[in-house]
Amino acid sequence: MSRPIMTTTGGNPIADNQNSKSAGPRGPLLLEDYQLIEKLAHQNRERIPERVVHAKGSGAFGTLTITHDITRYTKAEVFSEVGKQTECLLRFSTVAGERGAADAERDVRGWALKFYTGQGNWDLVGNNTPVFFVRDPLKFPDFIHTQKRHPRTNMRSATAMWDFWSLSPESLHQVTILMSDRGLPIGYRHTNGYGSHTYSFINAQGERFWVKFHFKTRQGIQCMTNAEAEQVIAKDRESSQKDLYEAIERGEYPQWDFKIQVMAEEDAEKCAFNPFDLTKVWPHADYPLIDVGVLELNRNPENYFQEIEQAAFSPSNIVPGISFSPDKMLQARIFSYADAHRYRVGTWYEALPVNQPKSEVHTYHLDGSMNFMKPKSSDAYYEPNSFDGPAEEDAFAEPPLKISGDADRWNHRDGNDDYTQPGNLFRLMSDVQKEQLFSNIAEAMQGVPQSIIDRQLGHFDQADPAYGAGVREALVRLAGDNTNNISVQEEPQAAPVG
Ligand code: NDP
Ligand code: HEM
Repeated sequence: MSRPIMTTTGGNPIADNQNSKSAGPRGPLLLEDYQLIEKLAHQNRERIPERVVHAKGSGAFGTLTITHDITRYTKAEVFSEVGKQTECLLRFSTVAGERGAADAERDVRGWALKFYTGQGNWDLVGNNTPVFFVRDPLKFPDFIHTQKRHPRTNMRSATAMWDFWSLSPESLHQVTILMSDRGLPIGYRHTNGYGSHTYSFINAQGERFWVKFHFKTRQGIQCMTNAEAEQVIAKDRESSQKDLYEAIERGEYPQWDFKIQVMAEEDAEKCAFNPFDLTKVWPHADYPLIDVGVLELNRNPENYFQEIEQAAFSPSNIVPGISFSPDKMLQARIFSYADAHRYRVGTWYEALPVNQPKSEVHTYHLDGSMNFMKPKSSDAYYEPNSFDGPAEEDAFAEPPLKISGDADRWNHRDGNDDYTQPGNLFRLMSDVQKEQLFSNIAEAMQGVPQSIIDRQLGHFDQADPAYGAGVREALVRLAGDNTNNISVQEEPQAAPVG
């Protein structure tokens, strides 16, 4: 079989890819050796910025198959008939670690889905948890600073985490999940996925419903203890990548049951809690899970960088029949992701094969850095025009959404119950799970100033007195263990104020 001839990026054939061009066998190199210059220059540009959060991840392609009719709630093409299949990409991730971080860390797992539908891409960018740490996006960058490295020590800071959490009681629900057994999954296949936010569905009659998305693992939830994870990381920093990649290569395709919860539009007003608050779930007893379909991952990427690192998911990618909600966090994310992609990947990131919709794209955007769209030749390069350029279609208009209220910086903590739902979660745990929760928290609090620990214990007490008491006991137990072994140092920080 004849092999293709190697070339430069300009297509010029290469005669020798083993030896640089030098003045004599031992001499210095010649500037005219463009082949060497091109190779080194390309190497200098091999890395793109890593994601500011969720930098470490793994992904695979697959299929969503619809098994139940939900067309009474939505006209979205992806749900149009039982048996309908839509190709998708799912990227899992950890949140805090950098691109080279170990997989087996206690952290939330990202669950970013891109469905290549017949009416454009639908991205559902969620997590393996149904809630989040903050409910106002103004606090998101502050929260993320506490998860990343301390600017002076260049280390992760338990003090910063517990300081922020203890001053932000709305975080308690997510902190309880993070510190529970489910905060350290054995691998991505063994996690559930949640859209987390409330989104909206719009049906063919123009009626709006509020909706939450759930993916329940068919592999079963499987988790590790901190001690087990230490053993894994000592031998393998890519444990989740390996598990996912090898399972798919073996033909053991992971599957999830796709379900939804639905609320009538007008019921949002009557709900006892704010159904657009990302720190709350909708109780299953009030909003039962409705079967929709099966998600299966069945194809590994051919090239990790091109198809996973350059993949760009954004909650702003919605399709007719699926839309946003007043959730403040979702509203901010609608802006934030595409902005991140233009910086991280480039202006035309959606023209890259992995991000490109399978349906036709017609915009009037022009030019820009690295525009590699197919050249267009038309007099219709502005809108409106008289030259048959693409035009709007009012059939896609959404029904109007009633909104009222005085514009202000409303205190999101006023009258908000941050304790009942975390307490409910605590109360449904088995005794073994509760013990794990207590000891995980006690371990995570090592080195944190006592005043911050006391403030956080107050939150556990309010969720359930047994929760606070259990953590106190675990802290005492661990302090005893530490005196008998090596003493744990307080983190090198300035003393907290107040
Ligand atoms: P249910 O008893 O109907 O549901 C309990 C839910 O908790 C199940 O979805 C279960 O997931 C999940 N769960 C069990 N252990 C953990 C854990 N350690 N971390 C996270 N989730 C866990 O109760 P409710 O609907 O009334 O909710 C009670 C509490 O359950 C909530 O306050 C919330 O913390 C948690 N939860 C609720 C969800 C919801 O959408 N209502 C979704 C996920 C969690 P599984 O079935 O996979 O075992
Ligand atoms: C990644 C912002 C909240 C899930 C990202 C990225 C940004 C970002 C900028 C990097 C995107 C990229 O470079 O491709 C925000 C902001 C938030 C927020 C501003 C709140 C206001 C959330 C929430 C969830 C979530 C609530 C889950 C429910 C994810 C996931 C990724 C991610 C899964 C990784 C996507 C991928 O795999 O490429 N976020 N985020 N984020 N975020 Fe958020």
